[in-house]
Amino acid sequence: MNRLNINKKWDYSDALEATDHIILKEKYDLFINGEFVKPNSEKYFDTINPATDEIIARVAGANKKDVDFAVDSARRAFKSWSKIKAKDRGKYIFRIARMIQERAKEFAVIESMDGGKPIRESRDIDIPLAANHFFYYAGWADKIEYAFPNKTPKPLGVAGQIIPWNFPLLMAAWKIAPAIACGNTVVLKPAETTSLTALKLAEIIQESGLPKGVVNIVTGAGQTGAEIVNHPDVNKIAFTGSTAVGKLIERSLAGIEKKTTLELGGKGANIIFEDAAIDQAVEGIINAIFLNQGHVCCAGSRLFIQESIVNTVIEKLKDRMSSLVVGDPLDKNTDIGAINSKEQLATINKYIQIGKQEGGEIYQSKCNIPKKGNWCPPTLFLNVSQSHAIVQEEIFGPVLTIQTFRTINEVIEKANNTPFGLSAGVWTEKGSKIFKLTQALNAGVVWANTYNKFDPASPFGGFKESGIGREGGLHGLKAYLKFE
Ligand code: NAI
Ligand code: MG
Repeated sequence: MNRLNINKKWDYSDALEATDHIILKEKYDLFINGEFVKPNSEKYFDTINPATDEIIARVAGANKKDVDFAVDSARRAFKSWSKIKAKDRGKYIFRIARMIQERAKEFAVIESMDGGKPIRESRDIDIPLAANHFFYYAGWADKIEYAFPNKTPKPLGVAGQIIPWNFPLLMAAWKIAPAIACGNTVVLKPAETTSLTALKLAEIIQESGLPKGVVNIVTGAGQTGAEIVNHPDVNKIAFTGSTAVGKLIERSLAGIEKKTTLELGGKGANIIFEDAAIDQAVEGIINAIFLNQGHVCCAGSRLFIQESIVNTVIEKLKDRMSSLVVGDPLDKNTDIGAINSKEQLATINKYIQIGKQEGGEIYQSKCNIPKKGNWCPPTLFLNVSQSHAIVQEEIFGPVLTIQTFRTINEVIEKANNTPFGLSAGVWTEKGSKIFKLTQALNAGVVWANTYNKFDPASPFGGFKESGIGREGGLHGLKAYLKFE
């Protein structure tokens, strides 16, 4: 085949983002009632840079008493926060957004150091989007009655919010901004491997003058999360994380009057039709699965290629993969950073082994992997089928499975054949096919001729085992209100 090899591997010089402006404390306390307080537990755990294995700070591990204290201060703050002028709530949220922008560079570097994601992504995606969420919901704060005409929306009370490690600051923004815009107060728990940007956000919140107790940030592992979920004085649980923990939360809240939104796992189908713009689609495939090392709930981890173009797409895909730079997250040329934790790397490697045992044909691009830290080269599996574990289960790493299809009905059936229903992508020049698929695919988000695009104004969430409820946009407000 006549191949236009435009993706010859380039040798880039190092382009390291500076870290000398980063000031991290040795030890981080809990942020409760507007102050940093020592944990009652007296326990601290290490937070590690997954690209170097170095301990970059120690973070407090909250116990039940600490969670009680946080919920109590949120409850006290709710009394006045829910009553102050909505316009003033908006002003505080706007101020937080501006302060994130002002400190964007610092946040981006810390996000990459603590979580392993490429600086290009933390700088251009995570941090600006986090600020955007605060801006967006700042705008809604004094317009909520217009958002729900002829209704009387009221805040719920104290929201317990538990977030994962893949988009640490962004998930904190998704949770906090709509909750406080509606007049609720918050107890938020970041994930144990990536607490630092939430704690930096606590510094901003303190400086912003937001009334004490409106936002409380307690750090810790799963047990701390469970204490929040099971606390009798919490009115709403918003959780993003694994389907396994989501189910656990559902079970423990059955029959209890506590609103929940659960944003769980996914196994997104990315569908390439023969009439698609192939080069753009190949870029889309790369972005869909390799963004943030594949630690993305809506990742396009199942690729479906129409049979007539399969060889072309795979060849171009392998070619493009060979140009991806794997390595130091702080290097501006890096495409694929470090895997977030040793545990996650073990999970990914386990699935790669399973994929091989199941008879999948593996392809990994050759790349220079650093000696220290957690790394996984971009990986494809060919010759897989619907029944394979790597096709059915969320791997949450840079691992793509590839299947083919002939007809539109066949691909709809295959795409919908998983327990998940979070996201999908469709690549075609034909509008009618896009409309047919957006109707037929059982997914909360369907992207057409693009992938992994996020906007605070558009709702996000899943069907089936991908969760309950929506975040973002008007839907995201509704989840923090009751209507009397
Ligand atoms: P996880 O679901 O255990 O962690 C997410 C958050 O929940 C963390 O803040 C954690 O401390 C908290 N948590 C854990 N157990 C809890 C409990 N019993 N009650 C309340 N909160 C609890 O996810 P984990 O173990 O870090 O990752 C395992 C797998 O989960 C990944 O391989 C991936 O497949 C999936 N995952 C999916 C995410 C998504 O956004 N869809 C995010 C994170 C993980
Ligand atoms: Mg870390």
